Amino acid sequence: MDVVDRRSADRTGGRAVDRTTLHRVWRSILALAGLAVAAACFVAPILLAVIAAAFTLLLFARRIYRGRDRYIPNLYSRDIGVYDDGYQEFIRRSLAELRRCKISDHTLLWEASRLAPPSRENSDEVLLDLGVWIGWSTRLTAEASGRKVYGFDTFEGLVEDWAIDDQVVIERGTFSLSEPLAKRFIRDTGLTLEDGIPPALGRDVEFIKGMTYETLAPFLASRPAAPISLFHMDLDTYESCLHALETCKDRFVEGSVLVFDEYLVTNGELRAFYEFQQKYGLQWQYRAWGLEVWEMNVEMVTSWWKRLSYYLILIAGYWTLGDGRYAWTFFGKRFWRFWLGAPWGDIAFMLGAAGQRKSVSLEITGLGTLARTRDAG
Ligand SMILES: C[S@@+](CC[C@H](N)C(=O)[O-])C[C@H]1O[C@@H](n2cnc3c(N)ncnc32)[C@H](O)[C@@H]1O
Repeated sequence: MDVVDRRSADRTGGRAVDRTTLHRVWRSILALAGLAVAAACFVAPILLAVIAAAFTLLLFARRIYRGRDRYIPNLYSRDIGVYDDGYQEFIRRSLAELRRCKISDHTLLWEASRLAPPSRENSDEVLLDLGVWIGWSTRLTAEASGRKVYGFDTFEGLVEDWAIDDQVVIERGTFSLSEPLAKRFIRDTGLTLEDGIPPALGRDVEFIKGMTYETLAPFLASRPAAPISLFHMDLDTYESCLHALETCKDRFVEGSVLVFDEYLVTNGELRAFYEFQQKYGLQWQYRAWGLEVWEMNVEMVTSWWKRLSYYLILIAGYWTLGDGRYAWTFFGKRFWRFWLGAPWGDIAFMLGAAGQRKSVSLEITGLGTLARTRDAG
């Protein structure tokens, strides 16, 4: 594995796709809180001494802490010591590489806006969005890339239970469009389902309904030899991810960009990609580590006051009930892993966002044994 220089990755300069208002709102709240603390220190200088003492203690504790490099973000959830040596090494190297590719944007849209135009011999190349929910990831990818995007989903939710590391299990059927949350977002982002499928809303997209286990192979068979230029994985589970990689393997080419929305879940997409690239001896390089695309649904809420209330609810939810709470609930292990074990850069990266930063992109640079199979074919 390798890491790409992001400046040279900006092949097309990128279209304007900055949709990070939620995070700007959060950073404004942080700045206001900082000002309030500074004002309090001015009024009661003893506070400054307390803060300085706490910081000195933290610096000292970080020097003697031995857990560095053993935990994986987001907010230092899992001890990777539970895995075999090969996978542990892959995770360590991945994090070292990824730390050099941090971006403040949403990885999928960042990549879509930078896709090189198709070459003449690859004019039939396709862009896939696997796991679309109410369709915004697909529509916005089409907008950002200026190209047609194919979106795949059951629209009836996950097809397997999804265990997120050692934290929670999200049950099969979750993310069905009949759930109250989906119905609310469908209404608030101005959609009307057509035969249970989200509308294109004027974007160049096509939605394909069904399990990818049944839809992906026939879709590719109907476009013989069409290479995949963008592969966006948001099916969440290890099984669906590995199946999609295997089904698409003969359509990956040098330059194919793969975006994984939940890459830093060690028993999910990360594990699936690890096994896949190892099996075929693929060459590839990391390109970006940024924000997940789900929250784009909030950005697309049509009324500004509803959007603002969604921002505030999401921010409050993330820091009180979501992973953000591990940054301040000192009675849990993850609090200590985060403050003592995380590199300063990770701490700033995590605190600067009010949402998950698990999305990673990479580019295939060599096809390994897949090339041999193709030559033989
Ligand atoms: C997290 S949601 C996708 C969110 C979407 N990309 C967004 O940003 O709004 C995951 C989606 O994957 C779908 N899904 C999971 N496994 C699937 C499979 N094997 N085949 C088809 N759809 C699947 C679920 O129905 C769900 O809508």
